Amino acid sequence: MPTSIRNYLAEDEHAVLALWNHCLPRDEISLNTFRRKIILDSNFDARGCFVATSKKQIVGFLLGLCRRFPYFDVGMESDRGWVTVFFVHPEMRRQGIASQMMEQAERFLAKEGVKEVHVSDYTPNYFLPGIDLDAYADAHEFLRDREYKKVESVYSMGRSLVDFSIPEGMAERFRQLEEAGFSAKVFEPRDTLLLLEFLRRNYPGDLYRVALDRLRENPECDEILVAMKDEKIVGFSHFKEEHFGPFGIDEAYVGRGLGPMLYYNTVEQMRKKGRHNLWLAWTSGRAKDFYHKVGLKVFRRHEIMKKSFD
Ligand SMILES: CC(C)(COP(=O)(O)OP(=O)(O)OC[C@H]1O[C@@H](n2cnc3c(N)ncnc32)[C@H](O)[C@@H]1OP(=O)(O)O)[C@@H](O)C(=O)NCCC(=O)NCCS
Repeated sequence: MPTSIRNYLAEDEHAVLALWNHCLPRDEISLNTFRRKIILDSNFDARGCFVATSKKQIVGFLLGLCRRFPYFDVGMESDRGWVTVFFVHPEMRRQGIASQMMEQAERFLAKEGVKEVHVSDYTPNYFLPGIDLDAYADAHEFLRDREYKKVESVYSMGRSLVDFSIPEGMAERFRQLEEAGFSAKVFEPRDTLLLLEFLRRNYPGDLYRVALDRLRENPECDEILVAMKDEKIVGFSHFKEEHFGPFGIDEAYVGRGLGPMLYYNTVEQMRKKGRHNLWLAWTSGRAKDFYHKVGLKVFRRHEIMKKSFD
């Protein structure tokens, strides 16, 4: 059965969406999300987005991207490109369709000046922070066979908040921290400039973007918390509905118990606002160990992968 690869067209959206939800059962999306996170992404370029067709049906999809606009103070990251999602109809697999789409995307990205392709730590509009090793093991094999190497293991984690309370030993630790001039509190509008300056200095990418988006939407947002050292902001945390994060402490203050203080205060605010569960999409390394210690369980295991063009 002949298959051909072409660039994505506006008329493809319904067929691509139906195929997406068939192929990525753990990551179903709505048409609204598809438009918001793909078509309305300022970096979207149909020249990097491919569909495979067979007998006039769409049987495969792959989205490749590189920055067309700087991402706040992170800039253009001009050496880097991303493939954020790809899939092929189950009955059409092992016929080289994904390989052809990937080759065309890599060629497009290389022409744009990209030196390495990542799957898929793209901000702001990632779908999966890397390949889900359990749900999409075939994709992991596929990428390894195409010379993609592991960059980092990342985890989605979570817990129920129904039985949540701040552990007893914490009160004494919080008191000691307070004596040393530290505190954690719900964001107040007068903190706005200090918070943005803190984030630009310490977390100029997605954390800065999240704070900016939330505060533009509601300058009195009470789903942001800050850690303070005297009058200075030294940590930030955020939640939206049951989604916890992002979360970040000034590197100069880690290892003093400030992380737990900000975390527990944030969870307490979530609980007060009626949230029954907490989940976070993306953590790794030391932060993962921290979340494990405070009782979160791993829900999904991902691997961020990359390939360098020589
Ligand atoms: C991953 C996926 C896109 C591969 O599509 P495909 O069209 O079957 O891939 P290809 O035919 O081009 O495969 C090329 C090579 O990848 C490797 N590969 C692909 N599927 C594999 C599998 N199930 N097991 C082992 N190796 C596999 C093989 O080396 C294969 O070459 P071969 O067939 O000569 O052995 C497809 O399995 C899929 O849609 N999976 C679900 C969606 C998904 O996981 N997407 C990633 C997350 S966004």
